[in-house]
Amino acid sequence: MKFPIADQSILVTGGAGFVGSHLVDALAPHNDVRVLDNFSSGSREHLPAGVTVVEGDLRDPLAIQRGARGVDLIYHQGAVVSVTESVAAPRRTNAINLGATLDVLEQARIEDARVVLASSAAVYGDPESVPIPESATGDPPSPYGIQKLTGDAYARRYHDLYGLDTVCLRYFNIYGPRQQGPYSGVISTFLEQARAGEPITVEGDGEQTRDFVHVADVVRANLRAGVTETTGSAFNVGTGRETSIRSLAERIRRIVGRNVPIVHTDPRPGDIRHSCAETSRARTEIGFESAVDLERGLETLVEPATGDVIDAMIGEQVVEDEG
Ligand code: UD1
Repeated sequence: MKFPIADQSILVTGGAGFVGSHLVDALAPHNDVRVLDNFSSGSREHLPAGVTVVEGDLRDPLAIQRGARGVDLIYHQGAVVSVTESVAAPRRTNAINLGATLDVLEQARIEDARVVLASSAAVYGDPESVPIPESATGDPPSPYGIQKLTGDAYARRYHDLYGLDTVCLRYFNIYGPRQQGPYSGVISTFLEQARAGEPITVEGDGEQTRDFVHVADVVRANLRAGVTETTGSAFNVGTGRETSIRSLAERIRRIVGRNVPIVHTDPRPGDIRHSCAETSRARTEIGFESAVDLERGLETLVEPATGDVIDAMIGEQVVEDEG
């Protein structure tokens, strides 16, 4: 099997976190991988042997400098991912989500390294219609969305102004093994509630929708972005399918097999109503298409998947992609 990225020196910021650690698992056997993380939400247990750890905070430019020294490629995954947390602490989350992105881009100029940025569907704000093409413009209702929108714009401008190879991946709602913690995303929250026999808490009427994409697909999109010749652009990373939060709650209750109540709480401030990716640009320009549907993806959580299962999900697709 030919792995798309090999013999490179690679920095993964947030490499001990949810998405970062799955990406590191995929890259590490074939590359020299360095992880910059402060372990505030990530975990050392997720890191495979042989990876170099630079422990540090993204708000410290010297930590970024140390992490990026001599690398060919930077996957900038480190961020505060919670929209709610950004509403509570706009300045602090801005320093992490935007300030550090600018520092990573600056350091990449010095190293002449490619940057693949973890951008977000949050850049589209509350879209006028779905599915959302990359050309849509947004007015994000949360500090988180503003931070991601600005970082995404900076990364594309660094390509135009300074000739840096940058690729923005606008992640839709990612789920999968290792997603954990108080702000970890609705699927893991609902699963935890149902397993504990507690009510599932739907915020608002539950008619809001999301495009849920499995982390194995997100890793594959990152592998594509690491090698594509189409730089200076942004690509949606989603499935193109919409699921309402209410129907998700019902589905999870069914899968877990516990008849817990589904309760409705107040809607979340800064929440968006509908989100779903238009996927054609990613397919035609970087050859990325999601392969794991929600049913199969939820199975990896209900029957907790080992790393090997996730590797296989990524690996099968890499082989298919290679034709
Ligand atoms: C998520 C990501 C964000 C990403 C964005 C892209 C997380 C924590 N956040 O934000 O980083 O950029 O997708 O689209 O992964 N909900 C409930 N009950 C709960 C929890 C959530 O009803 O207990 C609802 C929320 O009100 C919201 C939806 O589920 O309408 C999704 O919430 P969440 O999983 O936190 O993700 P986003 O805010 O969409």
